[in-house]
Amino acid sequence: MFRTVRTLLRTSLLAPLLAVSAPAQADSVQAAIDWARQQPQTHTDVPKGEARPLIIAHRGASGYVPEHTLAAYALAILQGADYIEPDLVMSQDGQLVARHDNQLGLTTDVAQRPEFAERQRSQTVDGISLNGWFSEDFSLAELKTLRAIERIPQIRPGNARLDGSFAIPTLQEIIDLVKSLQLSQQRVIGLYPETKHPTHFQQLGLGLEQPLVNLLKKNGYHSAKAPVYIQSFEVNNLKSLSRLTPVRLVQLFGAGQPFDQQRLGSGLTYAHMASPAGLKAIARYAAGVGPEKSYIIPRDASGNLDAANTTAFVANAHAQGLKVHPYTFRAENSFLPANLRTGNDPQARGDSAAEIQLFLDAGIDGLFIDQPDIAVRLRAKP
Ligand code: G3P
Ligand code: CA
Repeated sequence: MFRTVRTLLRTSLLAPLLAVSAPAQADSVQAAIDWARQQPQTHTDVPKGEARPLIIAHRGASGYVPEHTLAAYALAILQGADYIEPDLVMSQDGQLVARHDNQLGLTTDVAQRPEFAERQRSQTVDGISLNGWFSEDFSLAELKTLRAIERIPQIRPGNARLDGSFAIPTLQEIIDLVKSLQLSQQRVIGLYPETKHPTHFQQLGLGLEQPLVNLLKKNGYHSAKAPVYIQSFEVNNLKSLSRLTPVRLVQLFGAGQPFDQQRLGSGLTYAHMASPAGLKAIARYAAGVGPEKSYIIPRDASGNLDAANTTAFVANAHAQGLKVHPYTFRAENSFLPANLRTGNDPQARGDSAAEIQLFLDAGIDGLFIDQPDIAVRLRAKP
């Protein structure tokens, strides 16, 4: 254990946490801001207008703080991220909250709460059989009693030190945080919400789309110039959103088929969507695309980044006027291409900046990253 902590200190993974001796519960916007301000900062000047590359804090500064907490978003903003990314799910009473999964057991302490033991159940979500506790079975008031925990404590034990410190934020609280930090940072901070499990929530009568559009509009985000991108792995909910709001939309690309297309039996796959014709169709409803990184630069059989075989994805997307924001850049060896790792410790950092640079050379417009400070520093280099 001591060796692990020493390794993390050496690799600076714990650096933002050193100021935290006994983390207070940062449930409120102001508490999250105060907490983040105690952390070491790496902020440099952010370009005016739409920055390039656009630095999107993936689930907040999730390389340093349990994901999708106000503290993770606040730290990302203070590190200089341009946009923060809340993944969104629905509560039983129709409130938008930030979680990557509606299965709450992955990133909250719900399994340790005897009062919710009987809510554990099995169901199929997006075609996958799951067992756990689901956001749609909890009121917002109940969700607010839960506390966030680190998803990958074996890779990020420093984050796990903060288990139990932060609540699940609502989208409104995230917007409040952004607006507050916009004032103190004197810059525009963007929101990059993702609708999670859209078909699933629609089937429950808890569709995410209209509440999201309503909440954004209520907060002044209702134009193509608003600092917002709404993303989805599904197709039809983005098409619906394009009729509900002028806010910019981003089509995400994963493996296989979008779940809504799978359910419809349409035969449309992400591979079809990545073709020039597929990208042309996407440009009718979206302003950008968010591919998994391998759509742009694949890895070879040894797991090395194979820049010599960079695809035409970026060029084809740009030909249709689409921005390209790939996901997800992560600094730890366990996520990096084999040729950019440093040593064998899966928790240690490798050369994430070199990976980012290769993608910048491939022409990307922005990137989702767990450690926004790395991209901020890289962008600031002359
Ligand atoms: O939304 C971009 C990226 O976040 C997609 O992957 O699974 O982290 O939401 P995921
Ligand atoms: Ca996401």
